[in-house]
Amino acid sequence: MTQSRDSSPDADASGSRIPGFYKLDIAGRRKEIAARAAIDEQEILAAVASGGLDAGTADKLVENVLGTYSLPFGLALNFRINGRDRLVPMVVEEPSVIAAASNAAKMVRAAGGFSAEMVESLMTTQVEVYEVRDPARAVERLESHAAELLALGTRAVPNLVERGGGPRSIDVRDIGQDRVVVHVHVDCRDAMGANLVNSIAEAIGPRVAELSGGTLGLRILTNLCDRRRVRATCRVHAKDLTLAPGPGSEPPRVTPTGAEIVDLIVEASRFAELDPYRAATHNKGIMNGVDAVVLATGNDFRAVEAGAHAYAASSGRYRPLATWRRDGADLVGTLELPLSLGIVGGTLRVHPAARLSLRLLEVTTAGELQEVAASVGLASNLAALRALATEGIQRGHMSLHARSVAAAAGAGDDEVERVAAAIAELGSITLEEAGRQLAKLREER
Ligand code: MEV
Repeated sequence: MTQSRDSSPDADASGSRIPGFYKLDIAGRRKEIAARAAIDEQEILAAVASGGLDAGTADKLVENVLGTYSLPFGLALNFRINGRDRLVPMVVEEPSVIAAASNAAKMVRAAGGFSAEMVESLMTTQVEVYEVRDPARAVERLESHAAELLALGTRAVPNLVERGGGPRSIDVRDIGQDRVVVHVHVDCRDAMGANLVNSIAEAIGPRVAELSGGTLGLRILTNLCDRRRVRATCRVHAKDLTLAPGPGSEPPRVTPTGAEIVDLIVEASRFAELDPYRAATHNKGIMNGVDAVVLATGNDFRAVEAGAHAYAASSGRYRPLATWRRDGADLVGTLELPLSLGIVGGTLRVHPAARLSLRLLEVTTAGELQEVAASVGLASNLAALRALATEGIQRGHMSLHARSVAAAAGAGDDEVERVAAAIAELGSITLEEAGRQLAKLREER
């Protein structure tokens, strides 16, 4: 990505490192990013100033539109993934998610950054047949006609084939109760691929029914796209895990060493590996990062969520998607999950903020976007576990939450930071206290 410029807030800043970025006002941040990413400031403004999507366009996207609904669009910093710096757009309403991911990315960066790769890159669609009289024979016939079915499927997606994609292989599963399911695995190139694979399923459905001697059932993709998996890993040096004193005067209640924090995070990982109740929350923390990137890039977050949790449970027990281990003096994390994201088609055609996200990320393939999303998920998990295993999340979380409480109490743009700092310092982040502090601030003026 574009390297540092003299106008950045810090002379050492380069790539995705922009020290002091959070201290700029919104206009200053837009200016800085426009310069770094070589994007016209007006384009940034048009894409995110008021949510990016006008009601007329929204009306063409979905039905019965009354208007649009905005969410914060922020940037996570410090990410280096496969040796390359990335500015990561995140759309999320929860305070501290972007700051926590940026903070974790900084720790990981000190040990070389994230490594991420697609384990496989095939989207899967299902064709179901039921009332199959002889399922074993049906499986055999379908398998022996795989080439014919692939050819039929290929003819249904000429444009995809032109781009180098298309159906690659077929699996046939006898799922019991006289039901047989054909899976077609499809290379969707840079598309999420739902429409493509559904077209393939519909094209081959009648022939599948004929070959199986059963009744044609559903023809639809599976969101458990476990042949489209991404793996992200990272290393953190123990010394980079140590806790800095937070805002306000209160010191952390426990101040473990970096080496102790490595062990505490490994213990937190084990808890999730043993207990599905904890694993669900552990995975929610991962999805804080993943979903925010998915949303920012105009992708289908429901599909991603469905796939992630089905994959987490695919061994028969719900498990954490990411685990952490000690490696010498370092902490090492690994995340694996199915991800079906696109960088062409869908919402991207109409949503300027989604298009801006892709430009900021500078991703050129869907695989790269999936690698970024997984790395952000791993960063979010690291940040959450480090906080939970040491001082707990409430102090950091609440001090950031304080800003929205201050705004809710009526603080203006020039008052929010001071009221938030005051209530965080007092450890009383309530609307009442924010109201009192706001009145005090106004009296003093
Ligand atoms: C909150 O949004 C996410 C966490 O609960 C994740 C976790 O517990 O690991 C902090």
